[in-house]
Amino acid sequence: MAVRRILQIDDAEDKKLLKAKARQVQLPNPHLKQLIADMFETMHAANGVGLAAPQIGLAQRLAVIYIPPEIEEREDGTQVEVAPSEEYTLINPEIIKRGEQQESDLEGCLSLPGWYGQVPRPNWVTVEFSALDGKRYRLRKVDGLLARAIQHEIDHLDGVLFTERIRDLSTLKDHRKEEQPEPANV
Ligand code: NI
Repeated sequence: MAVRRILQIDDAEDKKLLKAKARQVQLPNPHLKQLIADMFETMHAANGVGLAAPQIGLAQRLAVIYIPPEIEEREDGTQVEVAPSEEYTLINPEIIKRGEQQESDLEGCLSLPGWYGQVPRPNWVTVEFSALDGKRYRLRKVDGLLARAIQHEIDHLDGVLFTERIRDLSTLKDHRKEEQPEPANV
């Protein structure tokens, strides 16, 4: 396994690659399993919840997502996991339905570390994608962080960056200079 370099939005050469539209992945592909393992390793090393292949310089319609476990604190201060972590590998994903309501939340990107802005997005999506076995799968009406991550990663496959989705650019700030913890990175 190997950690790959993540392309950066503020680098002119990298940005050209990030702005390109990715191609459909042909299945089966014997190299894909290793590539997906590298993408998970790269995403985890950067503490991300999502990474798309164009972010490591590959113009392919492939993304990985990691939703951390949900932890709750009991009254005595001890912690309990109330929902397990979730991992998704999306090959040739396609949003086939979206909610009519928009939901705005702070969003960041591993290609622009430290920076977060308020991004409005449909509040739920139904997404279809292929797995390594070539079968099509559907995640129906997912919401919350997973819905946001799926939309952010599919945007990457179309060469669209989260900064282009921000309506109020005054919300885009470098959180490394602030004391609050960094929100999720996709
Ligand atoms: Ni991103």
